[in-house]
Amino acid sequence: MADSLSPDAVEPLLAGGFGRPYVYEESCESTQRLLSEDAPEGAVAACEEQTAGRGRLGRDWTAPRGTAVLMSVLLRPPAERRVAELSLVGGVATALTVERATGLSAQIKWPNDVMLNRGKVAGVLAETRGKAVVLGIGLNANQSRGELPADAKTPASSLRVVDATVRDRAALLADLVTEVERTYKLWAVGGLDAIYEELGSRDFLRARRVIVEGVEALATGITRDGRLEIATNGGRRLVESGEVEYLR
Ligand code: BTN
Repeated sequence: MADSLSPDAVEPLLAGGFGRPYVYEESCESTQRLLSEDAPEGAVAACEEQTAGRGRLGRDWTAPRGTAVLMSVLLRPPAERRVAELSLVGGVATALTVERATGLSAQIKWPNDVMLNRGKVAGVLAETRGKAVVLGIGLNANQSRGELPADAKTPASSLRVVDATVRDRAALLADLVTEVERTYKLWAVGGLDAIYEELGSRDFLRARRVIVEGVEALATGITRDGRLEIATNGGRRLVESGEVEYLR
């Protein structure tokens, strides 16, 4: 029988304050739509299948029913924080969760992808709702190679493709929620500085040739306020958002 993200499976595994309430539907349009801006901070929504899952830059996010961890969490960041940094906060939390689950090193491809063995195993989407933010994470856990999108610019992968292990998604989700709570709370108090070592040491793009807005450059790192620093022929530039292609 397939594993499940139902409250019975997940709630006993939640270790911190996040995940209460835990909103669950077997099938939904998008977990991003299950949390209202009035929900308490730390409310989590999850489902087995999304019929209109959303990625960054207006893209779709798809995963066969019961194969991925699809979750959103409601956050109320302090006014002095840069909300754009939250996708990196989610990326750090997801990378650490992936590392604990697999025993392998994961990387964060600015601004929102989590990479394992050069494939994208997770994506993070931060959307504002008034003063709140809904942080959505899609973690490809148990998809086989044939169940992954074949046409993605950054090649899609899953934990199962990397190490041939089918995992209990409830345990993965509970660990992810705990890690999101930990990294988010550090960031809320101390900004990206507070998790900068965990982020900087996992920077996938650093020292790679990249293309940003049609210009080839060298990625030199992520700044302490979450921007991507690149070196072009015209000098150093900071990238705020958008699409970064890398040359393999
Ligand atoms: C990206 O890489 O473009 C971000 C993908 C984010 C996908 C997750 S799955 C759970 C949540 N619900 C959605 O509709 N999107 C996010």
